[in-house]
Amino acid sequence: MDKILVTGGLGFIGSHTVVELQSEGFEVVIIDNLSNSSMDVLEGITAISGKSPIFEKLELKDKSAVQNFFSKYKDIKGVIHFAASKAVGESVQEPLMYYENNLNTLIYVLQELAAKTEANFIFSSSCTVYGQADEMPITENAAIKPAESPYGNTKQIGEEIIKDTCKVKPNLNAIALRYFNPIGAHPTARIGELPIGVPQNLVPFITQTGAGLRDALSVFGDDYPTPDGTCIRDYIHVVDLAKAHVVALKRLLSKKNIANYETFNIGTGVGSSVLEVIHAFERVSDKKLNYQIADRRIGDVISAYADTTKANTELGWEAKSSLNEAILSAWKWEKKIRGL
Ligand code: UD1
Repeated sequence: MDKILVTGGLGFIGSHTVVELQSEGFEVVIIDNLSNSSMDVLEGITAISGKSPIFEKLELKDKSAVQNFFSKYKDIKGVIHFAASKAVGESVQEPLMYYENNLNTLIYVLQELAAKTEANFIFSSSCTVYGQADEMPITENAAIKPAESPYGNTKQIGEEIIKDTCKVKPNLNAIALRYFNPIGAHPTARIGELPIGVPQNLVPFITQTGAGLRDALSVFGDDYPTPDGTCIRDYIHVVDLAKAHVVALKRLLSKKNIANYETFNIGTGVGSSVLEVIHAFERVSDKKLNYQIADRRIGDVISAYADTTKANTELGWEAKSSLNEAILSAWKWEKKIRGL
Protein backbone atom coordinates (compact mmCIF):
# COMPACT_ATOMS: atom_id res chain seq x y z
CA MET A 1 0.00 0.00 0.00
CA ASP A 2 1.87 3.08 -1.25
CA LYS A 3 1.86 6.15 0.96
CA ILE A 4 0.81 9.32 -0.85
CA LEU A 5 1.11 12.88 0.40
CA VAL A 6 -1.77 15.17 -0.55
CA THR A 7 -1.02 18.81 0.24
CA GLY A 8 -4.14 20.91 0.60
CA GLY A 9 -5.96 17.62 1.13
CA LEU A 10 -8.82 19.27 3.03
CA GLY A 11 -9.59 21.66 0.17
CA PHE A 12 -12.28 21.25 -2.48
CA ILE A 13 -10.42 19.17 -5.06
CA GLY A 14 -7.94 17.76 -2.54
CA SER A 15 -10.61 16.21 -0.32
CA HIS A 16 -12.33 14.49 -3.26
CA THR A 17 -8.96 13.18 -4.43
CA VAL A 18 -8.17 11.76 -0.98
CA VAL A 19 -11.46 9.82 -1.11
CA GLU A 20 -10.59 8.36 -4.53
CA LEU A 21 -7.03 7.50 -3.44
CA GLN A 22 -8.30 5.69 -0.34
CA SER A 23 -10.87 3.79 -2.38
CA GLU A 24 -8.01 2.52 -4.57
CA GLY A 25 -6.11 1.29 -1.51
CA PHE A 26 -3.53 4.07 -1.15
CA GLU A 27 -2.50 5.22 2.31
CA VAL A 28 -2.93 8.99 2.43
CA VAL A 29 -1.13 11.62 4.45
CA ILE A 30 -2.76 15.05 4.26
CA ILE A 31 -0.95 18.31 4.89
CA ASP A 32 -3.23 21.32 5.27
CA ASN A 33 -2.83 24.62 7.12
CA LEU A 34 -6.63 24.99 7.49
CA SER A 35 -6.43 28.49 5.99
CA ASN A 36 -9.35 27.75 3.66
CA SER A 37 -10.73 24.50 5.05
CA SER A 38 -11.76 22.90 8.30
CA MET A 39 -11.46 19.71 10.30
CA ASP A 40 -15.06 18.88 9.36
CA VAL A 41 -13.73 17.96 5.94
CA LEU A 42 -11.54 15.28 7.52
CA GLU A 43 -14.65 13.87 9.16
CA GLY A 44 -16.47 13.91 5.82
CA ILE A 45 -13.62 12.05 4.11
CA THR A 46 -13.53 9.48 6.91
CA ALA A 47 -17.30 8.99 6.79
CA ILE A 48 -17.23 8.33 3.03
CA SER A 49 -14.14 6.10 3.06
CA GLY A 50 -14.63 4.36 6.38
CA LYS A 51 -10.93 5.10 6.80
CA SER A 52 -9.18 8.11 8.26
CA PRO A 53 -6.19 9.57 6.43
CA ILE A 54 -3.18 10.69 8.47
CA PHE A 55 -3.45 14.43 9.03
CA GLU A 56 -0.60 16.87 9.65
CA LYS A 57 -1.49 20.51 10.20
CA LEU A 58 1.51 22.14 8.67
CA GLU A 59 2.58 25.40 7.06
CA LEU A 60 4.32 24.67 3.75
CA LYS A 61 5.68 28.22 3.65
CA ASP A 62 7.90 27.16 6.55
CA LYS A 63 10.84 25.48 4.85
CA SER A 64 12.11 23.75 7.98
CA ALA A 65 8.63 22.35 8.66
CA VAL A 66 8.64 20.85 5.15
CA GLN A 67 12.11 19.36 5.73
CA ASN A 68 11.00 17.90 9.06
CA PHE A 69 7.91 16.41 7.47
CA PHE A 70 9.92 14.55 4.82
CA SER A 71 12.41 13.29 7.44
CA LYS A 72 9.47 11.90 9.41
CA TYR A 73 7.73 10.34 6.40
CA LYS A 74 10.62 8.83 4.43
CA ASP A 75 8.34 6.33 2.68
CA ILE A 76 6.18 8.80 0.71
CA LYS A 77 5.88 7.34 -2.81
CA GLY A 78 4.07 10.22 -4.47
CA VAL A 79 2.92 13.77 -3.83
CA ILE A 80 -0.22 15.44 -5.13
CA HIS A 81 0.23 19.14 -4.55
CA PHE A 82 -3.00 21.14 -4.21
CA ALA A 83 -2.04 23.54 -1.43
CA ALA A 84 -2.30 27.04 -2.92
CA SER A 85 -4.36 30.21 -2.81
CA LYS A 86 -6.88 30.44 -5.62
CA ALA A 87 -8.92 33.66 -5.53
CA VAL A 88 -8.18 35.61 -8.69
CA GLY A 89 -9.32 39.02 -7.37
CA GLU A 90 -7.46 38.63 -4.10
CA SER A 91 -4.29 37.76 -6.02
CA VAL A 92 -4.45 41.13 -7.78
CA GLN A 93 -4.66 42.89 -4.37
CA GLU A 94 -2.07 40.68 -2.64
CA PRO A 95 0.44 39.57 -5.28
CA LEU A 96 3.28 38.90 -2.85
CA MET A 97 1.08 36.72 -0.69
CA TYR A 98 0.13 34.72 -3.80
CA TYR A 99 3.71 34.33 -5.03
CA GLU A 100 4.79 33.26 -1.55
CA ASN A 101 1.88 30.87 -0.93
CA ASN A 102 1.90 29.27 -4.35
CA LEU A 103 5.58 29.29 -5.32
CA ASN A 104 7.68 29.11 -2.13
CA THR A 105 5.65 26.12 -1.00
CA LEU A 106 6.11 24.41 -4.36
CA ILE A 107 9.86 25.01 -4.27
CA TYR A 108 10.24 23.63 -0.74
CA VAL A 109 8.35 20.45 -1.62
CA LEU A 110 10.31 19.99 -4.86
CA GLN A 111 13.63 20.50 -3.05
CA GLU A 112 12.79 17.53 -0.84
CA LEU A 113 11.62 15.38 -3.75
CA ALA A 114 14.61 16.25 -5.94
CA ALA A 115 16.90 14.91 -3.23
CA LYS A 116 15.22 11.48 -3.30
CA THR A 117 16.38 8.62 -5.51
CA GLU A 118 12.89 8.44 -6.97
CA ALA A 119 9.93 10.80 -6.64
CA ASN A 120 6.52 11.24 -8.25
CA PHE A 121 4.72 14.57 -8.31
CA ILE A 122 1.31 15.73 -9.55
CA PHE A 123 0.73 19.48 -9.84
CA SER A 124 -2.59 21.34 -9.83
CA SER A 125 -2.42 23.55 -12.86
CA SER A 126 -5.19 25.34 -14.68
CA CYS A 127 -6.56 26.06 -18.12
CA THR A 128 -5.95 29.67 -17.12
CA VAL A 129 -2.40 29.16 -18.52
CA TYR A 130 -3.88 29.27 -22.04
CA GLY A 131 -5.68 32.61 -21.56
CA GLN A 132 -7.96 33.17 -24.57
CA ALA A 133 -6.70 30.36 -26.78
CA ASP A 134 -6.71 30.95 -30.53
CA GLU A 135 -8.50 27.70 -31.31
CA MET A 136 -11.19 25.60 -29.65
CA PRO A 137 -11.04 22.97 -28.30
CA ILE A 138 -7.75 23.69 -26.52
CA THR A 139 -4.96 21.15 -26.90
CA GLU A 140 -1.91 20.90 -24.63
CA ASN A 141 0.13 22.43 -27.45
CA ALA A 142 -1.82 25.70 -27.43
CA ALA A 143 0.32 28.74 -26.67
CA ILE A 144 0.74 29.85 -23.06
CA LYS A 145 -0.62 33.43 -23.03
CA PRO A 146 0.47 36.21 -20.64
CA ALA A 147 -1.34 35.64 -17.34
CA GLU A 148 -4.32 37.85 -16.49
CA SER A 149 -3.62 37.78 -12.74
CA PRO A 150 -0.91 36.94 -10.22
CA TYR A 151 -2.91 33.77 -9.46
CA GLY A 152 -2.71 32.70 -13.13
CA ASN A 153 0.94 33.64 -13.20
CA THR A 154 1.69 31.37 -10.24
CA LYS A 155 0.30 28.43 -12.27
CA GLN A 156 2.47 29.32 -15.29
CA ILE A 157 5.60 29.89 -13.20
CA GLY A 158 4.83 26.77 -11.16
CA GLU A 159 4.79 24.69 -14.35
CA GLU A 160 8.10 26.22 -15.44
CA ILE A 161 9.72 25.54 -12.06
CA ILE A 162 8.71 21.88 -12.33
CA LYS A 163 9.77 21.59 -15.99
CA ASP A 164 13.20 23.11 -15.34
CA THR A 165 13.73 20.88 -12.32
CA CYS A 166 12.71 17.74 -14.22
CA LYS A 167 15.27 18.58 -16.94
CA VAL A 168 18.14 18.16 -14.49
CA LYS A 169 16.57 15.62 -12.12
CA PRO A 170 15.70 12.43 -14.02
CA ASN A 171 14.72 10.86 -10.69
CA LEU A 172 11.80 13.29 -10.49
CA ASN A 173 8.69 12.39 -12.49
CA ALA A 174 5.98 15.02 -12.69
CA ILE A 175 2.61 15.59 -14.31
CA ALA A 176 0.84 18.95 -14.43
CA LEU A 177 -2.92 18.58 -14.75
CA ARG A 178 -4.52 21.62 -16.34
CA TYR A 179 -8.03 21.69 -14.94
CA PHE A 180 -10.89 23.35 -16.71
CA ASN A 181 -13.78 24.43 -14.41
CA PRO A 182 -14.25 22.04 -11.47
CA ILE A 183 -17.78 21.99 -10.04
CA GLY A 184 -20.03 19.70 -8.01
CA ALA A 185 -19.59 17.69 -4.86
CA HIS A 186 -19.31 14.10 -3.71
CA PRO A 187 -22.61 12.26 -4.41
CA THR A 188 -22.93 11.48 -0.68
CA ALA A 189 -22.94 15.26 0.03
CA ARG A 190 -20.42 14.66 2.83
CA ILE A 191 -17.79 16.88 1.19
CA GLY A 192 -18.07 19.71 -1.34
CA GLU A 193 -17.03 23.25 -2.11
CA LEU A 194 -17.00 25.76 0.78
CA PRO A 195 -16.44 29.23 -0.65
CA ILE A 196 -15.56 31.86 1.94
CA GLY A 197 -17.70 34.99 1.64
CA VAL A 198 -19.38 35.85 -1.66
CA PRO A 199 -18.53 33.17 -4.23
CA GLN A 200 -16.61 34.42 -7.26
CA ASN A 201 -17.23 31.27 -9.30
CA LEU A 202 -20.42 30.64 -11.20
CA VAL A 203 -21.80 27.39 -9.80
CA PRO A 204 -21.46 28.18 -6.07
CA PHE A 205 -23.06 31.55 -6.76
CA ILE A 206 -25.95 29.84 -8.53
CA THR A 207 -26.53 27.28 -5.78
CA GLN A 208 -26.32 29.96 -3.06
CA THR A 209 -28.87 32.02 -5.00
CA GLY A 210 -31.09 28.95 -5.28
CA ALA A 211 -30.74 28.44 -1.52
CA GLY A 212 -31.78 32.04 -0.84
CA LEU A 213 -28.40 33.33 0.39
CA ARG A 214 -28.06 35.70 -2.59
CA ASP A 215 -30.81 37.72 -4.25
CA ALA A 216 -29.78 37.28 -7.84
CA LEU A 217 -26.97 36.03 -10.03
CA SER A 218 -25.33 38.60 -12.28
CA VAL A 219 -24.52 37.12 -15.67
CA PHE A 220 -21.29 38.85 -16.66
CA GLY A 221 -22.03 39.89 -20.24
CA ASP A 222 -24.44 38.61 -22.89
CA ASP A 223 -22.83 40.32 -25.86
CA TYR A 224 -19.94 37.92 -26.41
CA PRO A 225 -19.46 36.34 -29.85
CA THR A 226 -20.99 33.01 -28.74
CA PRO A 227 -24.32 31.40 -29.75
CA ASP A 228 -26.28 32.92 -26.83
CA GLY A 229 -23.89 35.81 -26.08
CA THR A 230 -22.62 34.43 -22.75
CA CYS A 231 -19.16 32.98 -22.07
CA ILE A 232 -18.39 29.33 -22.62
CA ARG A 233 -16.50 27.07 -20.20
CA ASP A 234 -15.83 23.38 -19.71
CA TYR A 235 -17.41 22.40 -16.37
CA ILE A 236 -16.04 19.16 -14.96
CA HIS A 237 -17.44 17.16 -12.04
CA VAL A 238 -14.94 17.28 -9.17
CA VAL A 239 -15.17 13.48 -8.72
CA ASP A 240 -14.10 12.96 -12.35
CA LEU A 241 -11.28 15.42 -11.76
CA ALA A 242 -10.25 13.64 -8.55
CA LYS A 243 -10.09 10.33 -10.47
CA ALA A 244 -7.79 11.94 -13.05
CA HIS A 245 -5.25 12.50 -10.24
CA VAL A 246 -5.33 8.85 -9.24
CA VAL A 247 -4.85 7.76 -12.86
CA ALA A 248 -1.97 10.22 -13.33
CA LEU A 249 -0.32 9.05 -10.11
CA LYS A 250 -0.60 5.39 -11.15
CA ARG A 251 0.98 6.28 -14.49
CA LEU A 252 4.02 7.58 -12.64
CA LEU A 253 4.14 4.78 -10.07
CA SER A 254 4.02 2.17 -12.83
CA LYS A 255 6.57 4.12 -14.89
CA LYS A 256 4.26 4.38 -17.89
CA ASN A 257 5.06 8.06 -18.41
CA ILE A 258 6.76 8.92 -21.69
CA ALA A 259 8.72 11.92 -20.39
CA ASN A 260 9.57 12.91 -16.82
CA TYR A 261 7.49 16.06 -17.18
CA GLU A 262 4.07 15.83 -18.85
CA THR A 263 0.97 18.01 -19.07
CA PHE A 264 -2.65 16.95 -19.56
CA ASN A 265 -5.86 18.89 -20.04
CA ILE A 266 -8.52 17.70 -17.64
CA GLY A 267 -11.97 18.68 -18.82
CA THR A 268 -15.04 17.14 -20.40
CA GLY A 269 -14.41 18.48 -23.88
CA VAL A 270 -17.89 20.03 -23.87
CA GLY A 271 -18.34 23.80 -23.72
CA SER A 272 -21.39 25.20 -21.90
CA SER A 273 -22.54 28.80 -21.81
CA VAL A 274 -23.48 30.64 -18.61
CA LEU A 275 -27.15 30.51 -19.65
CA GLU A 276 -26.90 26.77 -20.29
CA VAL A 277 -25.53 26.30 -16.77
CA ILE A 278 -28.39 28.36 -15.34
CA HIS A 279 -30.92 26.29 -17.27
CA ALA A 280 -29.29 23.05 -16.14
CA PHE A 281 -29.61 24.26 -12.55
CA GLU A 282 -33.27 25.14 -13.10
CA ARG A 283 -33.92 21.66 -14.52
CA VAL A 284 -32.22 19.67 -11.78
CA SER A 285 -33.50 21.81 -8.89
CA ASP A 286 -36.95 22.41 -10.34
CA LYS A 287 -36.55 26.05 -9.31
CA LYS A 288 -36.49 29.31 -11.27
CA LEU A 289 -33.19 31.09 -10.77
CA ASN A 290 -33.29 34.83 -10.26
CA TYR A 291 -30.67 36.34 -12.56
CA GLN A 292 -29.94 39.52 -14.44
CA ILE A 293 -27.58 40.45 -17.22
CA ALA A 294 -24.68 42.61 -16.01
CA ASP A 295 -21.50 44.09 -17.48
CA ARG A 296 -18.68 41.89 -18.61
CA ARG A 297 -16.15 40.95 -15.90
CA ILE A 298 -12.62 42.18 -16.52
CA GLY A 299 -10.24 39.38 -17.37
CA ASP A 300 -12.87 36.88 -18.54
CA VAL A 301 -12.05 34.91 -21.66
CA ILE A 302 -14.85 34.35 -24.17
CA SER A 303 -14.51 30.64 -24.49
CA ALA A 304 -12.40 27.82 -23.03
CA TYR A 305 -13.02 24.09 -23.43
CA ALA A 306 -10.63 21.20 -23.57
CA ASP A 307 -9.45 18.90 -26.27
CA THR A 308 -9.24 15.82 -24.08
CA THR A 309 -7.69 13.50 -26.68
CA LYS A 310 -4.33 13.31 -24.89
CA ALA A 311 -5.91 12.58 -21.50
CA ASN A 312 -8.27 10.02 -23.06
CA THR A 313 -5.66 8.14 -25.08
CA GLU A 314 -2.37 8.50 -23.17
CA LEU A 315 -3.69 8.73 -19.64
CA GLY A 316 -6.65 6.43 -20.26
CA TRP A 317 -9.01 8.74 -18.39
CA GLU A 318 -12.24 10.42 -19.38
CA ALA A 319 -14.88 12.48 -17.63
CA LYS A 320 -18.02 10.44 -17.03
CA SER A 321 -20.50 12.87 -15.46
CA SER A 322 -22.79 15.17 -17.39
CA LEU A 323 -23.30 18.85 -16.62
CA ASN A 324 -26.70 17.98 -15.11
CA GLU A 325 -25.19 15.37 -12.78
CA ALA A 326 -22.44 17.74 -11.67
CA ILE A 327 -24.89 20.56 -10.96
CA LEU A 328 -27.29 18.23 -9.18
CA SER A 329 -24.47 17.15 -6.86
CA ALA A 330 -23.55 20.81 -6.19
CA TRP A 331 -27.21 21.54 -5.40
CA LYS A 332 -27.55 18.53 -3.12
CA TRP A 333 -24.45 19.71 -1.22
CA GLU A 334 -25.71 23.30 -0.97
CA LYS A 335 -29.04 22.09 0.43
CA LYS A 336 -27.27 19.84 2.91
CA ILE A 337 -24.98 22.59 4.31
CA ARG A 338 -27.87 25.07 4.50
CA GLY A 339 -30.14 22.57 6.21
CA LEU A 340 -32.73 22.71 3.39
C1 UD1 B 1 -12.07 31.68 -12.80
C2 UD1 B 1 -10.80 32.47 -12.90
C3 UD1 B 1 -9.69 31.56 -13.35
C4 UD1 B 1 -9.54 30.41 -12.37
C5 UD1 B 1 -10.87 29.71 -12.18
C6 UD1 B 1 -10.73 28.76 -11.00
C7 UD1 B 1 -11.41 34.81 -13.39
C8 UD1 B 1 -11.43 35.87 -14.42
N1 UD1 B 1 -10.96 33.60 -13.80
O1 UD1 B 1 -12.34 31.10 -14.06
O2 UD1 B 1 -8.47 32.26 -13.45
O3 UD1 B 1 -8.61 29.49 -12.86
O4 UD1 B 1 -11.89 30.65 -11.84
O5 UD1 B 1 -11.92 28.17 -10.66
O6 UD1 B 1 -11.81 35.00 -12.25
N2 UD1 B 1 -19.97 34.21 -14.14
C9 UD1 B 1 -21.11 34.98 -14.09
N3 UD1 B 1 -21.54 35.43 -12.88
C10 UD1 B 1 -20.90 35.13 -11.72
C11 UD1 B 1 -19.73 34.33 -11.77
C12 UD1 B 1 -19.30 33.89 -13.00
O7 UD1 B 1 -21.71 35.27 -15.12
O8 UD1 B 1 -21.34 35.58 -10.65
C13 UD1 B 1 -19.50 33.71 -15.45
C14 UD1 B 1 -18.11 34.20 -15.82
O9 UD1 B 1 -18.18 35.39 -16.52
C15 UD1 B 1 -17.62 33.03 -16.66
C16 UD1 B 1 -18.32 31.81 -16.09
O10 UD1 B 1 -19.42 32.31 -15.35
O11 UD1 B 1 -18.05 33.19 -17.96
C17 UD1 B 1 -17.44 30.99 -15.19
O12 UD1 B 1 -16.87 31.85 -14.20
P1 UD1 B 1 -15.99 31.29 -13.01
O13 UD1 B 1 -16.71 30.21 -12.32
O14 UD1 B 1 -15.53 32.46 -12.21
O15 UD1 B 1 -14.74 30.60 -13.73
P2 UD1 B 1 -13.70 31.21 -14.79
O16 UD1 B 1 -13.98 32.62 -15.10
O17 UD1 B 1 -13.64 30.29 -15.93
